[in-house]
Amino acid sequence: MTQLITLGEFIIARQHEYPEAKGELSQVFGAISLASKVVHREINKAGIANITGDVGNENVQGEQQQKLDVYANETFKAALANRGLICGMASEEEESYVEFTHELTKGSRYIVLIDPVDGSSNIDVNVAVGTIFSIYRRKSPPDTPLTLDDFLQKGTEQVAAGYVIYGSSTMLVYTTGNGVNGFTFDPSLGVYYLSHADMQVPENGRIYSVNEGNYIHFPKGVKRYIKYCQEIDPETQRPFTSRYIGSLVADFHRNLLKGGIFIYPSYAGHPEGKLRLLYECNPIAFIAEQAGGRASNGSKRIVDLQPTELHQRTPLFVGSPLMVKHMERFLEAEEAALSA
Ligand code: AHG
Ligand code: MN
Ligand code: MN
Repeated sequence: MTQLITLGEFIIARQHEYPEAKGELSQVFGAISLASKVVHREINKAGIANITGDVGNENVQGEQQQKLDVYANETFKAALANRGLICGMASEEEESYVEFTHELTKGSRYIVLIDPVDGSSNIDVNVAVGTIFSIYRRKSPPDTPLTLDDFLQKGTEQVAAGYVIYGSSTMLVYTTGNGVNGFTFDPSLGVYYLSHADMQVPENGRIYSVNEGNYIHFPKGVKRYIKYCQEIDPETQRPFTSRYIGSLVADFHRNLLKGGIFIYPSYAGHPEGKLRLLYECNPIAFIAEQAGGRASNGSKRIVDLQPTELHQRTPLFVGSPLMVKHMERFLEAEEAALSA
């Protein structure tokens, strides 16, 4: 009989990989896992529990806040703050970072960046949404006030990153820089079990994921790559397959398992695209690279970008390494043509 390993057991078994963390990181995962179960419960009764719809105000980025955005933000914040595990958090749903001043947080060295509900426009229509998180060590000394620079760290500094996908089942996928592992939630027991050990993205794939409705606004290199995807592939005698859910987590997760590329480029009037560097692109990029994939803004690794603002955006090309490289070649060719 195969032995089932729970997320808690797995984290403890791997604790030696980050000895300097003295178990703190394991507890941060414990808090995130607990909050994700609460959010899972709310999402699963979304149709009957008056939790769908918007709250009537906009977040700092001018987007309609859904009730679940606010609920999930508060849930993750409470789980992380009340245990004194981390000293601060920044979220898509809050304009500035939040510093935790609870007595218990004294000496704590970690900060969290989070997109509490990713793909929130999909909640009301019962389509998969997610949570994305990223954990860093603070740069300023413990027990001094946090600074913005503690949050504006490059993705290469991530200690851990992960996402939860609330899909046909709920899964938690994370990395601490030693590969990527996925856990499936058993709601009857309230436990995550290891279901996807050492996840690897296929080197190449046949799925492209992009909001093609914006095609007219895309840079030429992206347009040409999309046209290339739509040509007959000599090997299969078929064009590539287009799949786009509109939740980054769900689109990325599918491509991670099946092989593919996720594209959110710059578009007319939006040179930095839509997705946020700190709590969407960096954690996804860390996971992608740890699974053997590639993540870039078209020319540079996402994790090498120096953030200058909390809610900064960046174009994102992520997934199977050969597909992302191929996409980059189309963009390079466009650059070369422009400067010729
Ligand atoms: P969020 O719900 O956290 O604001 O993120 C939505 C993001 C991302 O999940 C998705 O990939 C993208 O927005 C979809 O945008 P379009 O509707 O422009 O395709
Ligand atoms: Mn998002
Ligand atoms: Mn969100």
